[in-house]
Amino acid sequence: MEPRKRHVFLLWMLVCAGSTQAIEPISTSIAVGMAAALTGFLASYQNIFYYFHECCRPEWISFNSSGLKVDLEQKLFGQHIASRIVLKALTGFMNNAQPKKPLVLSLHGSTGTGKNFVSQIIAENIYKEGMDSSFVHVFTSELHFPHASKIDTYKSQLQQWIKGNVTNCGRSMFIFDEMDKMHPGLIDSIKPYLEYYDKVDGVCYRKAIFIFLSNAGGESITQIALDFWRAGQDRQTIDLKDLEVPLSLSVFNNKQSGLWHTSLIDKNLVDYFVPFLPLEHKHIVQCALAEMEAKGMVKNHEVADQLARDLVYFPKAERVFSVKGCKTIESKLDYYT
Ligand SMILES: Nc1ncnc2c1ncn2[C@@H]1O[C@H](COP(=O)(O)OP(=O)(O)OP(=O)(O)O)[C@@H](O)[C@H]1O
Ligand SMILES: *[C@@H]1O[C@H](CO)[C@@H](O)[C@H](O)[C@H]1NC(C)=O
Ligand SMILES: *[C@@H]1O[C@H](CO)[C@@H](O)[C@H](O)[C@H]1NC(C)=O
Ligand SMILES: [Mg+2]
Repeated sequence: MEPRKRHVFLLWMLVCAGSTQAIEPISTSIAVGMAAALTGFLASYQNIFYYFHECCRPEWISFNSSGLKVDLEQKLFGQHIASRIVLKALTGFMNNAQPKKPLVLSLHGSTGTGKNFVSQIIAENIYKEGMDSSFVHVFTSELHFPHASKIDTYKSQLQQWIKGNVTNCGRSMFIFDEMDKMHPGLIDSIKPYLEYYDKVDGVCYRKAIFIFLSNAGGESITQIALDFWRAGQDRQTIDLKDLEVPLSLSVFNNKQSGLWHTSLIDKNLVDYFVPFLPLEHKHIVQCALAEMEAKGMVKNHEVADQLARDLVYFPKAERVFSVKGCKTIESKLDYYT
């Protein structure tokens, strides 16, 4: 190691060592060595925080429940059910010092309704570095596991990744995007980590968070939202009860996405199914306004409304729900301004 790197490494050990059993107990000589290195380090570099590495400690990982609540209320539009479940699930789990199993959330809904967005909000309210945290891991089937023929390699790789990362930090988060496109064998390979085991091979997984994202069941959620709309009932009156049965039925019966779910549902490994409703014109307007603000533009209701009106809605005659949710707003905005 070159001297500068060594200094950084030693500092990292000093700062992060508290939670890493592998290098405990620290012998006096090492401690003295580290102190010497730190002194040298401080002398050499003025801005020590520049070298400050993220580590598995409360300084970098702590749950902000009021932050999560505010973010869900203010940034997430039209998802009263998802918002409620996510807040309840996370608050319960993160405030429990001894959870019995890892938290497993399964987020369902049609495209552009906010599934990735919510995982991002969750990450930001647990990890200081948010999605950039080295303790947050996103797996996309098409990106990480594209070839069905290599499934056995992927399986052992994924198991090693999960094991390695949870060993490093118990409070790790794993997001599986496009879960419905994931090979069923891969899902099987992660099942042991989701269960009520005290420890698997000496590693404790109970503080980890798993989030599955998929479009599975999106159509039945949409159908129910449409039924409510046609009956003239307020969207806010849609309750989880109304969605639970149709959601699980459609997920079970769908040959393409059913496989992975059946085994997970059977064993009660998923703690919460979180439905995302299709978005209406008014939510698209809100998304457009939020995007303007994010870009540092002056919020313009007319432009937002025009943009929202030009999107494609379904059913064709009534134009109730946006086909792509809020997904293309960001790029569209450039065209309208
Ligand atoms: N309900 C929402 N409230 C606020 N913003 C939203 C909402 N839904 C989507 N958005 C915006 O649209 C973008 C795209 O949404 P997101 O990636 O979360 O969709 P998704 O549900 O993951 O869709 P897909 O199933 O296609 O992956 C988000 O980054 C966010 O800016
Ligand atoms: C929690 O979030 C709130 C609202 O976003 C913020 O004001 C507060 O500073 C956060 N607290 C911590 C400890 O980060
Ligand atoms: C943690 O997961 C990432 C993938 O997100 C992987 O590249 C890395 O090797 C894993 N770390 C360990 C120690 O297994
Ligand atoms: Mg997504």
